[in-house]
Amino acid sequence: MRPIHQLPSAFRLAAKLIVAVSVLVAAAVVVPRLVAAGPSNTTEVAQSTAKYDKDLWDIARGGQLYDNWAVALDKELPKKNHPSYPTIGKKKGGITWRCKECHGWDYMGEDGSYGRGGHYTGVKGLRRMTGARIEDIIGIITDKTHQYTEDMIPPLAMKKIALFISKGQIGMDQYIDRSTKRARGDVKRGASFFQTVCAICHGFDGAEMVSKSQTEMAAFGDRGLLGTMAIEDPWESLHKIRNGQPGVGMVALRVLSVRDQVDVLSYIQTLTKRRLED
Ligand code: HEC
Ligand code: HEC
Repeated sequence: MRPIHQLPSAFRLAAKLIVAVSVLVAAAVVVPRLVAAGPSNTTEVAQSTAKYDKDLWDIARGGQLYDNWAVALDKELPKKNHPSYPTIGKKKGGITWRCKECHGWDYMGEDGSYGRGGHYTGVKGLRRMTGARIEDIIGIITDKTHQYTEDMIPPLAMKKIALFISKGQIGMDQYIDRSTKRARGDVKRGASFFQTVCAICHGFDGAEMVSKSQTEMAAFGDRGLLGTMAIEDPWESLHKIRNGQPGVGMVALRVLSVRDQVDVLSYIQTLTKRRLED
């Protein structure tokens, strides 16, 4: 299957509809349980109760903007390097304007997975900004170091990024083993979520709707598979599982518990191996 950005718009619309349906399906999984279980059986309900938070979808949107604000806003990233992108960094051009490029998918900057390798910048993380005031975070994003203007990121989008940083980030080290990159989830529970919520788009083996084109897939072999990506950069996968993928119709699992999300991550890390064994 081709990546979605190459597909005709009618299909994109269809993909969006699928999102809506998937969200309903996810809700339907939770709600009947509440009804069926009744007040006496709280243990089963506690497994995946959707929590109410009025900011939830703004936070997920903020997570997509953190990932790639230009794609999320249907704009282009600036052509030149970000003025604060350090000279020791190996990346060039638009990508240096993505928040994740300096602060990492685990929000830990140089203390996290971008502490070495091709994405190293030496920039600090954002973990201590959990709970910070929205105005203060917006003040930082628009300061001399960052230089994001309202033309690039309009005020409302700015607020959503700030909400994400204040209320939406998690410490990923407790869920992903940094040295082995293995997610600490339950593969079996993850399988149920993946096969009912994600497989309709990504295929039962994670080979569909991935960013690699068919030719790239042919050239890279299994490197293009969802499962392989989740093994190589589990922090990126977890961020996308929680917030969705900017610019395309993909669900955000943020409404479920972090444990559920990590279970999905654990399962997709097994997909490539399963595919080879089949
Ligand atoms: C080109 C690299 C770069 C990019 C891209 C970048 N930042 Fe930063 N950011 C920095 C640097 C460097 C600092 C530290 C500044 C300082 O300490 O004076 C920082 C600090 C921060 C802080 C304060 C962290 C703290 O603990 O003090 C926040 C919040 C922040 N950035 C948010 C963002 C957001 C949101 C985006 C995307 C819209 C973003 N940054 C994109 C380089 C970057
Ligand atoms: C409505 C369709 C849809 C659903 C449902 C969906 N996704 Fe996606 N997902 C996409 C699309 C489209 C992309 C972007 C592919 C591209 O870049 O061409 C994507 C990208 C991703 C990526 C980034 C991989 C890459 O190619 O960069 C991950 C990881 C991912 N999805 C995981 C999941 C998981 C896990 C679920 C279930 C919780 C899920 N997705 C549900 C459509 C969907």
